[in-house]
Order: sequence, then C-alpha cells, then structure tokens
Amino acid sequence: MFRFTAPPPLALYIHFPWCARKCPYCDFNSHAARDGVPEQAYIDALLKDLEQEIPAVWGRTVQTVFLGGGTPSLFSATAIDRLLSGARACLPLNPDVEITLEANPGTVEQAKFAGYRAAGVNRLSIGVQSFSDPRLQALGRVHSAAEAVRAAQVARDAGFDNFNLDLMFGLPGQDIAGAIADLETATQLNPAHLSWYQLTIEPNTLFHARPPVLPDDDLSWAIQEAGQSHLAAHGYTQYEVSAYAQARRRCRHNLNYWRFGDYIGIGAGAHSKLTDTGQGTIARRWKKRQPQAYLASAGTTACLEGRRLLGVGDAVFEFALNRLRLREGFALADFANVCGLGPERIIPLLEQAAAEGLLTLNEDGVRHTERGWRFLNNLIERFLAEEDQHARGQPD
Ligand SMILES: C[S@@+](CC[C@H](N)C(=O)[O-])C[C@H]1O[C@@H](n2cnc3c(N)ncnc32)[C@H](O)[C@@H]1O
Ligand code: SF4
Repeated sequence: MFRFTAPPPLALYIHFPWCARKCPYCDFNSHAARDGVPEQAYIDALLKDLEQEIPAVWGRTVQTVFLGGGTPSLFSATAIDRLLSGARACLPLNPDVEITLEANPGTVEQAKFAGYRAAGVNRLSIGVQSFSDPRLQALGRVHSAAEAVRAAQVARDAGFDNFNLDLMFGLPGQDIAGAIADLETATQLNPAHLSWYQLTIEPNTLFHARPPVLPDDDLSWAIQEAGQSHLAAHGYTQYEVSAYAQARRRCRHNLNYWRFGDYIGIGAGAHSKLTDTGQGTIARRWKKRQPQAYLASAGTTACLEGRRLLGVGDAVFEFALNRLRLREGFALADFANVCGLGPERIIPLLEQAAAEGLLTLNEDGVRHTERGWRFLNNLIERFLAEEDQHARGQPD
C-alpha cells in the first residue's frame, strides 16, 4: 500500500513501569513500587523482549535510546549497564548515539548519576516539575526544591553536559510570578534543554477524581506568554509545543517521534512503530501493560497486547499530529519519505489550511503561520477528516 525508498531513522524506547509513589496527576504506565523493583528479573525480561524484536529491524542502526517511565532511576547503575551492554550486543547503535535516562531528583537517585554516565547514558532528563516546596507538595512529589537544584548540579558534576529539566506550569495556586520564578531557577542551572508542560487533568488519575483548583484559561495563557519570553531571553528556543533547547541541544529521540520516524518499544506497555519497506506497511505494536503480566510473558508472543497496520488515512493523520507539533515545518519530500505516499495525498489539505491563513505552502515546504501555531489543535484536526474519509471506504 505504501512505497518507501528507504526506512526512516530508528530509535529504541525502554519503559520502566515503577515509581517511588504514584503522582496524583500522572496517567503514564507507572505503578508504586511498594517493595522495591524486581531489578534482575526486569532487565532479563527487557533483553528477551529486545531479542524478539531484532528480526523486524535487521540491518538497521539505532540512532537514539530513551530509558523512560515511570522512574528508571529506581534501577541501579549496574542494572542499566547490563541492559545497555545487552542492547549493544544485539543491535548496532550509531557511534554518536544519544542515550537518555529519566531520573527523579531524590538524593538516592543522584548518587547513581555517575554510574549511569559510566554505563553509557549521555543525556539525563530530570523530573523537577517546580522549584517551590508548596507546589511540589500539592503535586504529591517525593522530593524537595533544594534536592531538585542539587540534582542538576550533581548531573553536571557526573559529566552530563547535556541534561533536561521537566517543569510544569498552570499548577494549583500558581500565579505568573511563581511560574517565572520556577523558570528563573531553572535557567540559572543552565540545562541544555527544558521541557515546560502545562499541567493537564487526565482521566484515571487522583486529580481527575478530586480536581484541584487550577489557574483559569486567561491566567494560564498569560503564564505561557510570560514564560516563553523568559525562555527566549535566556537562550532557549522553542522547537515543539512544550520543548525548549539551547543551540544544537534538541532532544534527538523526541525529534524522531515528531518527524514520524520508526521506533522499537520494549518494556511493560511499550509501543513500537515500524516501517516494512518490503511489504509496504507501517505497523504499530504494543506490549502487555501490567508489570507482572509483562514479566511473565516477555520474550514470547503472549507479551504482545496488540498490533495494528496503519491505513493511508491513519498515516496522513499521524504524520500531521506529530510533525505539526514541531516549529520547524517540513518539506513535502519529508512526508513522502516517512509515509510512503505521494504529496498529492496531503496537498489539498495543506492548500485549504493555507487558504485560511494557518500555514504557508511553497517550494521551501510547509510552515505554520503564527495563527496556525496558536490554533494548532484546529489545524491538526483537519488531517483527521482525511482519515475519516478513508475509513468511510474511499479507495486508496
Ligand atoms: C513520564 S514522566 C517521567 C519523569 C519522572 N518520572 C518524574 O516524574 O520525575 C515525564 C514528564 O511528564 C510530565 N507530566 C506527567 N504528567 C503530566 C500531566 N498530567 N500534565 C502535564 N505534564 C505531565 C512531567 O513533567 C514529567 O516529568
Ligand atoms: S510523574 Fe513521574 S514520578 Fe510521578 S507517577 Fe508519573 S512517572 Fe512516576
């Protein structure tokens, strides 16, 4: 159905489904580790899972690895070393591979940073959320603001010149000054990258059941505008909805998702997206979500929870959903390369959006206008209509 000249770049995502405590706002596949983590058994399971993935990506080189969660930093540096050595033994990694690990800023975690660096991790992503103790308490976080500051310093001392801080805004009780104070502390720590997310209330979380009072839309908008100016003035360029980076420090792993690249996902609940150039297919697959069920089945076909082949409409929509999150825009050739489709599949939708002032479309490619960036959801929804048309049975 799809025609590819070459497969897109390949990444590896490794999920760790445990945290010290479940945060009341979080809907990620993470579970409170009441009795510690089954470190040996989980690394064994991950390696078996990875081995099973190899035939699907034979001959391809992994460009980036992301150890995410959950809280991977609950695992020892020895365990991470065994995992990365195992991965290197069965998959070619680019010599310039980016290997990120998500860490919580607690003191226990900080003590492991140097060991992670020695194991080959070259980028840390530290989940700070806020530098205000009252805000951290309202978010149910297990660490203090002082520990978060210290974590950034320890990361640098451990040899991580490339680290990210995760912050959230629109927090219960937060005003503009509070949000900017968080960014001020963050930029003083000089991280290479800042992820600055607006807190959202997700179904199946404690905050959904008992919602805290959040800043209203006007205040959230004002916080966002003030924060973006602050970040720009301190050398952080916004390149995605929530991602800001110093020059040449964009997260290559996340860029690959947003550019609709391929990835293998291993670990509980992890998703893969893989292009088969021979068959002309794009497949999504996902593993068993519950840690115990995953541990019991990793490396066998029973571990696969689901699989779906994308249709043409899916590919167009999923490309737009991801790619339009990036400020960089795209060339029509980028669409053709990763979707395996001719540009005529997307041009009518782009022309319509351009006619409404949401995009510009010319020989240089596609760029958002400021209006398109501001009404991004509206822009993206137009590509969903394409999927609906195909779901209604239009010939491909
Ligand atoms: C998968 S979490 C992993 C990071 C690490 N476990 C931590 O929390 O320190 C990645 C990031 O997503 C963000 N996040 C999680 N839930 C969110 C929500 N409901 N709204 C906005 N951002 C959220 C947080 O900033 C978090 O650091
Ligand atoms: S926000 Fe991070 S630490 Fe909190 S439950 Fe989610 S993954 Fe775990």
